[in-house]
Amino acid sequence: MATSSVQRVAVYPGTFDPLTNGHVDIIQRGALLFDRIVVTILNNPSKSPLFNVNERLEMARAVFKSQSNVEIDTFDGLLVEFVRRRKASVIVPGLRAISDFENEMQMALMNRRLHSDIETVFMMPAESYTYLSSRLVKEIFALGGSVRGLVPDLIESHLTAKATGNGGLNV
Ligand SMILES: Nc1ncnc2c1ncn2[C@@H]1O[C@H](COP(=O)(O)OP(=O)(O)OP(=O)(O)O)[C@@H](O)[C@H]1O
Ligand SMILES: [Mg+2]
Repeated sequence: MATSSVQRVAVYPGTFDPLTNGHVDIIQRGALLFDRIVVTILNNPSKSPLFNVNERLEMARAVFKSQSNVEIDTFDGLLVEFVRRRKASVIVPGLRAISDFENEMQMALMNRRLHSDIETVFMMPAESYTYLSSRLVKEIFALGGSVRGLVPDLIESHLTAKATGNGGLNV
């Protein structure tokens, strides 16, 4: 059993292209539940993301700069190896709907098979974010719709900067 001196560190993995308010909701809940939460941005250049991994890292760091128990990092390779390297013991996927569950459960059970000492704890966002995804945010934005309230203000500014070709990162 953990003693009170043992830090409970959770890892929240994803693409975060870009970070949405649904992600922020999960991170805030995780930060209350665990001593530290490490938001872990998957480095997946093959998926040709809108924001490269460094942009995603810098933006997320800016959003959480005043929260000392929220850390942002990047990874490639096996997630469970990253979790061990960071001395974490929990993975926290966010669950929006049953549609997320099948894939997440498969991942959780495979991760358990790889490292049985790492637990997966699913977290649900506020109801109002259950329909929100990065993909939808990008689609709405590209079609000229408003993403206010769906992403942090700082992310909205960076989306606008990208769209106007003014993409220099200035977080
Ligand atoms: N609105 C949300 N509420 C709760 N969890 C979420 C939400 N959006 C994403 N998540 C969870 O956050 C983690 C990271 O997700 P990811 O980076 O794939 O975001 P996404 O919005 O699903 O992006 P994409 O549309 O590109 O798949 C996953 O565990 C995912 O289930
Ligand atoms: Mg997703």
